[in-house]
Amino acid sequence: MKALVLSGGSGTRLRPITHTSAKQLVPVANKPVLFYGLEAIAAAGVTDVGIVVGDTAPLIEAAVGDGSKFGIKVTYIRQLAPLGLAHAVLIAREFLGDDDFVMYLGDNFIVGGITALVEEFKAAGPAAQIMLQQVSDPRSFGVAELDEVTGRVKNLEEKPKHPKSDLVLVGVYLFTAAIHEAVAGLKPSWRGELEITEAIQWLLDNGRTVHSTTITGYWKDTGNVTDMLEVNRLVLEGLEPRLDGTVSDDSEIIGRVVVEEGATVTGSRIVGPAIIGAGSTISGCYIGPFTAIDENCLVDDSEIEYSIVLSDASLRGVRRIEASLIGHHAEVTPAPRVPRAHRLVLGDHSKVQISS
Ligand code: G1P
Repeated sequence: MKALVLSGGSGTRLRPITHTSAKQLVPVANKPVLFYGLEAIAAAGVTDVGIVVGDTAPLIEAAVGDGSKFGIKVTYIRQLAPLGLAHAVLIAREFLGDDDFVMYLGDNFIVGGITALVEEFKAAGPAAQIMLQQVSDPRSFGVAELDEVTGRVKNLEEKPKHPKSDLVLVGVYLFTAAIHEAVAGLKPSWRGELEITEAIQWLLDNGRTVHSTTITGYWKDTGNVTDMLEVNRLVLEGLEPRLDGTVSDDSEIIGRVVVEEGATVTGSRIVGPAIIGAGSTISGCYIGPFTAIDENCLVDDSEIEYSIVLSDASLRGVRRIEASLIGHHAEVTPAPRVPRAHRLVLGDHSKVQISS
């Protein structure tokens, strides 16, 4: 069995963070979301992994390398334009051969991995297997309608205006080589993409078996920072506490806290779950629960909780920051007292809420 990981796309929903980074590299608890997927694939015993990359190829390749740090062997497959998930299968034809494969969308996060799903697929042997989850607004997903009596997948529809159910397709699919015939006949959809949802519908229409498993604990980027903070919270809750960095005696560390090697904490109170990345300096601060501070950040005389701070950012003399996502190299400082005014240099598509 092989894996096909999709890491193209432009990440418009996570701007401005994705102006300078790939959406699959947005960190959750200081680790790129893509890495969780690669680890789940390796844990399921799949080592031959094709990664489909687009314009952000250099960033993905720099982060993942040859895959050896995950125990996998990576082949990069270049997609020249984001023409859809089924298009990715089409261009990966040579890499995939006639093997079964798991297709994993690199911006999806699935709690609990995929090992059980892969085992189930191997044991039952359907033409394809999909994962579904209930969501409150299914309109931006592929939506599945199940037969009320048998529970079997009856019909699939991509981003319907009037969804027939609240069960949506999660970004992990298991396929046999039967999918190649389905993909070969597709025409671009209204959004100009070859839709994998339509290819799976083709399998259904042609009498092939499509199994589904309904899961909980799934997240996809929605452009909604609230969702990102939530998944960050979820992962931080499972953190194994570890103080590898330098923590001064006048600091107080409470609960599940990771201070990575090379990080320094002085005169601060950190209430977990929280993580402080390598090379970061925290001094005179309160770092509250559900906060991830990435590598090489400087946080001085500040208070922050329930937030994500990306690498090389700095916060000085600010309180209190909460429910925030702060980008790479961002600087947050107090404004001079006179005149009383907010002074902002914001990237395109930034969102700011001012408390006064
Ligand atoms: C894609 C699929 C959709 C699925 C979703 C899961 O959507 O087309 O069926 O529900 O991934 O992440 P896209 O990310 O292209 O909007």
